[in-house]
Amino acid sequence: MEPLTAWEAVDTLNDTSEVHIPSDPLARVIGQEEAIELARLAARQRRHLLLVGPPGTGKSMIAQALALHLPAPRHEVRVVHNPENPERPMAEVLAEDVVLSETESRASAAGELIDPADAPANVSQKLGYRCGQCGGLSAPSERTCPQCNNSKLEIDRSNNPFGDLLGGMLESAMSVMPQTPVGKEKVTTTRMRRGKEEVVVFERAGDRIRVLDQKSLEKRRELEMTSNRKVIVPLKRNPFVMATGASETELLGDVRHDPYGGHQGLGTPPYERVVAGAVHEAHEGVLFIDEISHLGQTQRYILSAMQEKYFPITGHNPQSAGASVRVDSVPCDFILVAACNIQDLENILSPLRSRISGGGYELLMDTAMPDNDANRSKYLQFIAQEIQMDGRIPHAGIDTVKGLVKEGRRRARDWDDHSNHLTLRLREMGGLIRAAGDQAAKDGSGLIEPEHLERALRRARSVEDQIRDRYGSYMKGLSKDVSESQKEKSPYYMQNQHIGDQMFN
Ligand SMILES: Nc1ncnc2c1ncn2[C@@H]1O[C@H](COP(=O)(O)OP(=O)(O)OP(=O)(O)O)[C@@H](O)[C@H]1O
Ligand SMILES: [Mg+2]
Repeated sequence: MEPLTAWEAVDTLNDTSEVHIPSDPLARVIGQEEAIELARLAARQRRHLLLVGPPGTGKSMIAQALALHLPAPRHEVRVVHNPENPERPMAEVLAEDVVLSETESRASAAGELIDPADAPANVSQKLGYRCGQCGGLSAPSERTCPQCNNSKLEIDRSNNPFGDLLGGMLESAMSVMPQTPVGKEKVTTTRMRRGKEEVVVFERAGDRIRVLDQKSLEKRRELEMTSNRKVIVPLKRNPFVMATGASETELLGDVRHDPYGGHQGLGTPPYERVVAGAVHEAHEGVLFIDEISHLGQTQRYILSAMQEKYFPITGHNPQSAGASVRVDSVPCDFILVAACNIQDLENILSPLRSRISGGGYELLMDTAMPDNDANRSKYLQFIAQEIQMDGRIPHAGIDTVKGLVKEGRRRARDWDDHSNHLTLRLREMGGLIRAAGDQAAKDGSGLIEPEHLERALRRARSVEDQIRDRYGSYMKGLSKDVSESQKEKSPYYMQNQHIGDQMFN
């Protein structure tokens, strides 16, 4: 563990730019010791987590940090064309070394690019780079040699099945198609290598010539044989996949609609229309689902994906040609980190909860931590972090830090009934720091000073508080602002009335 900047030393600092910020993303989470410990455990042992608690206490932050503690993904997932039954493409899982060596061979199959001047003269001439008359070089798109002004169309007639008979006609036909480049796309020749004759192919590649030797040609042929597949989960990917408010298709994958789906040879083949869902993209990583209860019945699929570690991909639109396509056994071995607030707990599917607690941990987030020197050090780190992350506001002076600690104490007491605590509703604290920073920036101040914090605190009051100040009560403000007829038309009229009475009077 990296050392904290001790609170005892706070007065020796000039401002928060001198505060040590740890590089480990989990060490940047303030408070929530138990959650941090469980996250480390979950990363090591591949366990699921359910984080319950109010907004802005670090649930997303912990899920993300957990993913960064996992080893990098080691497999790639592809779907392969199934010639027997195109509507049942097959999933293929490739290990890292196979994927990497394929990338390498793809690079070598690309051959070597050379300057037309370095190619054998007869080759560059056949490809349309070299003038047959003067030997000058120019792009194949130039039909007249810029050096000698002769037509470069004097090309290899032997390749023309009609020989000289139609040669002239072809040339005049080509001359009225100015875009057509001179010469051939590729030339195949042979050369001697280590006493053996081997095939070499020269191809046009813009203003260069591509040389493919025997080895690259073999590689290319090999790749063509394996080309009817699509990577749906690449090896190089983010191990953190967030599925907040995701639709069923985003979560579980889909087979895209093809307007020509029913017509052989017209449409895109089914395997090319398969897309992975979040459950598949999170393979070997973390699937983070915020407000999991909002998924409703879709939670069942998450449960089944967790149990099987495989989930089929099908088209989700019954009207679409994709609906008849299915890829079985697509891997989805993820760590689930689910989050929700306390009220929604009962809306989590109970088998899903028992799955999480059976193969992981459930945890209630803290809303406050005891106010002591160790925790004040953490607050100091938090303030420095938020400022660094924002990037547009100056650092805070030490008196401002102390002001923020005081505000943290006040909020812990007023919001969560914890006296002698510091609030851990840190998103709100972050907002306050930014608002104070904006005030400092407005003044052109090099530091956030206590006066900026004070102004921000005044600004940070909720609109309800502001209305109460101005009109005496929230309901009075409401009646001032809304005419009687408007009130009754508002679809929220009854509800607002009720909530207003309960909460604000
Ligand atoms: N425990 C914490 N330590 C450090 N920073 C925090 C912590 N909690 C919240 N923050 C700050 O607040 C921001 C929002 O936190 P986060 O998104 O993790 O909250 P959350 O619990 O996921 O909230 P929600 O329920 O609204 O999704 C973070 O990006 C970070 O800047
Ligand atoms: Mg969140």
